[in-house]
Amino acid sequence: MISLKPYNTFRVESFASNLMHIHSEEDLFRLDMNSSAGIKILGGGSNILLTGNIPETILRNEIKGVEIIEENQEFATIKVGAGEKWHEVVLWALNHELGGLENLSLIPGSAGAAPVQNIGAYGVELKDVFSKLEGISLPEKKIKFYTKEECQFSYRNSIFKSVLRESFFITKVYLKLSKHPQLHLTYGTIHSELAKKNIQNPTIHDVSAAVVAIRTAKLPDPAKLGNAGSFFKNSIISMEQFHDLKMKFPEMPFFEEDDWHVKIPSGWLIEQCGWKGKRIGDTGCYEKQALVLVNYGNAKGAELLQLAENIIASVKEKFGIILSPEVNIW
Ligand code: EPU
Repeated sequence: MISLKPYNTFRVESFASNLMHIHSEEDLFRLDMNSSAGIKILGGGSNILLTGNIPETILRNEIKGVEIIEENQEFATIKVGAGEKWHEVVLWALNHELGGLENLSLIPGSAGAAPVQNIGAYGVELKDVFSKLEGISLPEKKIKFYTKEECQFSYRNSIFKSVLRESFFITKVYLKLSKHPQLHLTYGTIHSELAKKNIQNPTIHDVSAAVVAIRTAKLPDPAKLGNAGSFFKNSIISMEQFHDLKMKFPEMPFFEEDDWHVKIPSGWLIEQCGWKGKRIGDTGCYEKQALVLVNYGNAKGAELLQLAENIIASVKEKFGIILSPEVNIW
């Protein structure tokens, strides 16, 4: 049995029957796909909660490499090995003066996991810079490409999180980056962070530094306190439900999603229910950002799941909104 504690940022203990490190396509082609145990795909382990032992064979993506494969005066397309650490890719782009990833600085996890859940932060989502990806369909052992449209990106979701879950292994991600980037500064806190430093004409480096400062202040460092970032998604509700709630809770923050839907920050809902900063045993709801659950040391996956379920129940009772987890529960 192999301990998965080093492979998940929640730092919970769980054991796998089999863990294989995948360094290349050839490693995948050599696999016995007909084994009855089944397969699970692991990237940086920063978006999973392990609630028990794993009988399936775990494939850990360790395909590396970043290179420019195409460029002109405006853009450069880079090909990224899916096992690269996401933030290393952001730093690589910054060092090459390529813009587009700066708002996505410091997100834990691997490059291959970025399209799976269409990572997003501070007004930018992966789909904004995504060109295509390459990977292997495990049942057929065949290389396949997916265009942006085929990935079916939506808020923290893609085809790889739904119908292709555990059957498609992403090997390379292609990103289209800009040599004359348009900066995205509208997300409130970026503005104030730049203003604090008196920066009038920010560069991609300034924006990245601002994002790093905001994240460091608000989100726990997984190297010091086990966590998987936002545990829940923000909540998208109907306009009708929104109007009813707004009457009862006039101070409720919201963002219009489209003509029929409104996005409510789930962190606010959780905070209103009194969970922010609460600790139960070694599990807790983070004191500076209620959307994040934390492991103070020896929490078990099942205990964190119990905390999540208790939070879901109280938000449902107070607001009639059913929170849905963003992390994958194994
Ligand atoms: N809020 C509260 N209390 C809290 C947390 C949030 O009231 O404890 C309210 C406030 O009104 C605040 C608003 O929520 O203004 C938004 O908060 P914040 O900017 O911290 O962002 P978020 O909506 O809680 C999302 C992403 C984060 C991402 C930030 C910044 C999701 C599930 N989470 O959080 O992503 O970093 O925006 O763009 O969409 C992640 O996915 O793991 C993640 C950390």
